[in-house]
Amino acid sequence: MCGIVGYLGHRKSKSILIEGLKRLEYRGYDSAGLAMLVNGKLKLARSVGRVAMLEERLEQEGGFDGTIGVCHTRWATHGGVTELNAHPHKDDRHGLVVVHNGIIENYAALKTYLQEKGHVFTSETDTEVISMLISELYEGDLEKAVQAALREVTGAYAICVMCEKEPDTLVVARKGSPLLVGVGNGEYVVASDAAAIIAHTSQAFMLDDYNVVKITPSGFHTTDIHNTVVTPKISQLEIDLEQIELGEYSHFMLKEIFEQPKALRACMSGRLDTREGRVVLGGIGSFGKEMTKAKRVVFTAQGTALHAAMIGRYFFEDVAKVPSTWEYASEFRYRNPIVEENTVVVAVSQSGETADTLAALHEAKERGALALGVVNVVGSSIARTTDAGVYLRVGPEIGVASTKAFVGQVCALAQLGLFMARRRLMSAYDCTKFMQHMEALPEKIETILGQADRIKKITERYIERENWLFLGRGYNYPTALEGALKLKEISYIHAEGMPAAEMKHGPIALINEGLPAVFIANRGKQYEKVMSNIQEVRSRGGHVIAVATEGDQHIKNYCHDVIYIPDVIEPLSPMLTVIPLQLMAYYAAVARGHDVDKPRNLAKSVTVE
Ligand code: G6P
Repeated sequence: MCGIVGYLGHRKSKSILIEGLKRLEYRGYDSAGLAMLVNGKLKLARSVGRVAMLEERLEQEGGFDGTIGVCHTRWATHGGVTELNAHPHKDDRHGLVVVHNGIIENYAALKTYLQEKGHVFTSETDTEVISMLISELYEGDLEKAVQAALREVTGAYAICVMCEKEPDTLVVARKGSPLLVGVGNGEYVVASDAAAIIAHTSQAFMLDDYNVVKITPSGFHTTDIHNTVVTPKISQLEIDLEQIELGEYSHFMLKEIFEQPKALRACMSGRLDTREGRVVLGGIGSFGKEMTKAKRVVFTAQGTALHAAMIGRYFFEDVAKVPSTWEYASEFRYRNPIVEENTVVVAVSQSGETADTLAALHEAKERGALALGVVNVVGSSIARTTDAGVYLRVGPEIGVASTKAFVGQVCALAQLGLFMARRRLMSAYDCTKFMQHMEALPEKIETILGQADRIKKITERYIERENWLFLGRGYNYPTALEGALKLKEISYIHAEGMPAAEMKHGPIALINEGLPAVFIANRGKQYEKVMSNIQEVRSRGGHVIAVATEGDQHIKNYCHDVIYIPDVIEPLSPMLTVIPLQLMAYYAAVARGHDVDKPRNLAKSVTVE
């Protein structure tokens, strides 16, 4: 969603700010803007569309050569996609600008109050209220004015503020939306995502909720909104530049699909002790005992992470024998959920910033649950809110359509489930056997990736079709949902995923001559049932594309196309069956001429409800 970059230092800031914004483009946005102090005077430019358009505008206008500036990519919430609604938002009384991520919930009341005080608003955004409020409360000290304004605000924010009256100061603050301060050599890069900082410094600190940081050339000073001094902990950023660059690939999504074997190796590294027959999860720490006693596990997430969470549910019931459920985080949080004693809530999230997932976790904790996280981004809000958890370790995911994070989530959930199973009922011998199957996964994924060209050709046969079905059972029902979601997200083809048995209860009416129906039909407990469902589609004219187990010659007689995956035990199968579906979605989008890494309307991380 929205992105923030700010710079204060000895270098010309324009290229640093613009490069930073480009690094954040993957998060999704629809307009961009930049403000700079040049010889103490504010210069501001905004534009609808891509960062490249803003860059052009800066070139045309010229003179953006100051060493302190802020910029922003906006994903519209309050007010349409217009130049006036783009950030930074300015207040003329003190020459003050604000960029903001998040949503100010009491903005309407604040706006009325400020209008009564004579402020004239030019946008429909909630952000403009912050700039006016800071201006209203400004009495010669920007840091104090920001603190005072934020004491009046409810909602979520990461803000970066700059003012003509204090031309060598940036003030940044956070509640709910992430914000980092990168500390370089006599310079500071502020950003909502480490990707915009790493090219300049690897030393940074994440603001805590209600932190306000005043940055000047001589250093920084951190307080909370009540002016109590806080000491932030500077640490090493856990990403490197190579991980966020495209390299030889045409798109980040393709790069990340091909990174999956490596990602899974990293996710399992040092955690599977096959000699002792146990899973070693440092992030669970002293909570292992409490977790083992669980009477119920609730998995919660949104989007792709929810599909991984659903697989987690199957895994925990099947392997660890714990009653488990899954829930959309957005539903859980408002449903007045019953959280009984010994309930464990597991939040699954790539970014660790999804607003609904974070709120569900708070709700679960409030009601006494043990809160665990399965998260990719180290130090993210969800990771910091949980009692304990497992990091995915799959590296930064830039492609908006999640791929390697999905297999990482399923793998981390399997490790968590196995950890619990071993402590509750599984022998060391069985645990070792299971872990050996896990260790074989990366190589098996490599053999599927080796079929990419064939999968591309199969996909291209169907790209004219506007409706697709994805069907699977058991562990691979969530995989079917994920296959349909991937196709929708980047190719804009309508696709529905569902349990194969459910098709007969309505969706079967959609089947007409040539409708592509992708069946996940690997060998497993329900193989025969899936075969029957395939026949039902075939006999109504649907074109069946099956993902099947290597060596299954029989299935060829019933399908138009078969994509083979290596044999694998059923609980681990989604990590293989999803690979062809990711590739199909990718090749369909490319064939249709879409910008795979910047799908329309989507955001990488949804930080609003
Ligand atoms: C957005 C992204 C999805 C992602 C979902 C949950 O919708 O576009 O790819 O699965 O958010 O994100 P999270 O960061 O919590 O995994």
